[in-house]
Amino acid sequence: MTTHSDPIRITRATTRKPRPKDSELGFGTVFTDHMFIADFEEEKGWYDPRVEPYGPLSLDPATAVLHYSQAIFEGLKAFTGRDGKIRLFRPHKHAERLNHSARQLCIPPMDPELVLKSLTTLVDVDREWVPKSVGHALYIRPTIIASEPFLGVRPAKQYLYFVILSPVGAYYPEGMNPVKILVVDKYVRAVEGGLGAAKTGANYAASLHAAEDAKHAGFTQVLFLDGVHRKYIEEVGTMNIMIRLGDEIVTPPLGGTILAGVTRDSALTLMRDWDLTVHERPISIDEVVAAAHQGTLREVWGTGTAAVISPVGELAYKGERIPINNGRIGELTQRLYDAIVGIQYATAPDTHGWTVEV
Ligand code: COI
Repeated sequence: MTTHSDPIRITRATTRKPRPKDSELGFGTVFTDHMFIADFEEEKGWYDPRVEPYGPLSLDPATAVLHYSQAIFEGLKAFTGRDGKIRLFRPHKHAERLNHSARQLCIPPMDPELVLKSLTTLVDVDREWVPKSVGHALYIRPTIIASEPFLGVRPAKQYLYFVILSPVGAYYPEGMNPVKILVVDKYVRAVEGGLGAAKTGANYAASLHAAEDAKHAGFTQVLFLDGVHRKYIEEVGTMNIMIRLGDEIVTPPLGGTILAGVTRDSALTLMRDWDLTVHERPISIDEVVAAAHQGTLREVWGTGTAAVISPVGELAYKGERIPINNGRIGELTQRLYDAIVGIQYATAPDTHGWTVEV
């Protein structure tokens, strides 16, 4: 089994791609010159970790992942700080979650230190691709797929780990402007006992129909409710959700149906540092609507690596439009965004040791 101390082979690209200006970047369309790869076989464990020129993978059409979706991924970012140094944001937490997802999908875990080494090595090789301006970052996508060519339904015996890098700007075209969200009860994203807490493509596939319907109706994303009662709030689009009701901040608990977001954890930690009243508890859409009617619904925002903090300016539920904070960015939403971004770009002290320098 390969550990983090084994050497990583590096094959450099002979030609370099043109790099767009930061201001031209959207999300996830541009990729760097290199990628990281490692293989897994039962007898060898994870082996042959290497950096190669970025390029297509060659897969047998019978490859298990193409049929039964045994695949997991992560998403994290590297930033250029004000001091010019490049830092990863909470890579250990992402490596931990990768292994959590791996367990849920019967994928062999990786040595977290090898995951960390893969990230730092690849980002170092492609370091000139890390955007330099605030609001821009290098998005890092570690992925594991079942690579065995086999059509029986069982966990594969061979896997491929790869990491690709994409310089990015804002995830939503709205940027930090408040988004309009449709609350859906026709579709659910995940159910208890299912894969909701794993970062696996199946959960994103399950969200597409609802997201398309919402888009056609003029909304940016959907808010999913729980699969049993169709009542309790779960996730907003691809993000966790937080709601400020009076002096309480509420976010749904990690019960197995939602993803344990790293930005969720960062926001909760910061708000507890600030002595705010924060509860991880079930919250129904009816409670949110009632709070809106009583005037105590103050702010709603999503948390996720891609968008960081995304203010919600309006919720629509059963035909009712519920404006939030008059469609403006709330004070706590902005404070959280500034605090997290401050740590990411090293304009604020990293008191929790969340960043790792490359
Ligand atoms: C995130 O908020 O970082 C996400 O999960 C979105 C990503 C799948 C593009």
